[in-house]
Amino acid sequence: MQYLENIPLSTLTTMRLGGLARYVVKITATEDLKQAIQFAEERGLPWFVLGGGSNVVALGDYRGLIILNRITAFKKLREDSDTATYQIGAGEVWDSVVERLVQAGLSGVEAMSGIPGFAGSTPIQNVGAYGQEIADTLVELSAFDSSSQRLVTLSPDDCAFTYRNSIFKNPETRHHVIVSITLRLSKIPMQPPFYPSLQQYLTDHQLTDYSPAQIRAAVPAIRAERLPDLNYLASAGSFFKNPIVQASVAYELLRRFPDMPHWEAPGQQFKLAAGWLIDQAGLRSYSAHGLQIYPHNALVVTNISAQSGEDLLLFKSEVVAVVREMFGITLEQEPETLPS
Ligand code: EPU
Repeated sequence: MQYLENIPLSTLTTMRLGGLARYVVKITATEDLKQAIQFAEERGLPWFVLGGGSNVVALGDYRGLIILNRITAFKKLREDSDTATYQIGAGEVWDSVVERLVQAGLSGVEAMSGIPGFAGSTPIQNVGAYGQEIADTLVELSAFDSSSQRLVTLSPDDCAFTYRNSIFKNPETRHHVIVSITLRLSKIPMQPPFYPSLQQYLTDHQLTDYSPAQIRAAVPAIRAERLPDLNYLASAGSFFKNPIVQASVAYELLRRFPDMPHWEAPGQQFKLAAGWLIDQAGLRSYSAHGLQIYPHNALVVTNISAQSGEDLLLFKSEVVAVVREMFGITLEQEPETLPS
């Protein structure tokens, strides 16, 4: 294994910010992972596992070891008349996994087509799109527990999935490195009602075939209008979480803004649309400090020419303040910040 030194974090994260990573190593097997963690611990350095860097923003230097998890595997474990179960290595490119499962005629991840990054990152923020989320298909995952130095199997309950969250996003419970995920897919296609923008697309194109292949063909077209191409424009996808508020807060806001999008959430709460709030606050296309609210989707922050993490922090605090002033809601960042 080759430990590279002083690598710009801007080359490892799609927001293309940050300083230097002291060490970077690519691993392709669990054994490599153990060695890499040992390398860091012997030197008293922290370590952090990165997939595609599309949901992590780096602000400054990282004085430890960045481990690029490229452990591959793609294996059918079981099949019955309605389902098929696959074990997938954490380092498999997510969209290629979706492609292979769709080619096998399986449903469960087709609406998550076109999401950047690697399979092992999907449980971290409970990735979801257009009505599907990874928590719906994940049956278990295998992880290296760095506190016990053992491979462990975690159930979805162990992962404590909620909207864009899991135990892996919490620094205090973050001692697992995901090695593989096991997904149970269905042989029955998705059924209506569909997520609004997906339904709109299907209606506009008079599509009534809901096969995984058809949904996989539709989703990238919807995404292309709303999300920048990471090859041309630096961003980390949705930059804010959709806020979840008490019903009383949502009702009060609906009195003032009757058109405000809102969805019921567990525990007598409502999920609101951060993109709508930012948009209504007049911040669509807002640009400062080298960053810009993406003109086609106010939920996305793009990095045009920011020089440092400080620029991003300033920009973020301006957006949060304007939205708080107008709606009384404090937006939270969705991508993780790489610890320093
Ligand atoms: N909206 C606006 N203006 C905007 C953006 C959105 O008015 O500039 C409104 C939309 O019209 C809609 C509502 O806000 O009524 C919600 O928008 P949309 O359905 O496009 O979804 P989203 O909340 O913007 C979420 C995920 C996306 C995922 C889409 C589709 C989060 C933080 N984001 O976006 O995930 O692709 O739903 O399922 O939950 C990501 O996490 O990086 C990501 C791209």
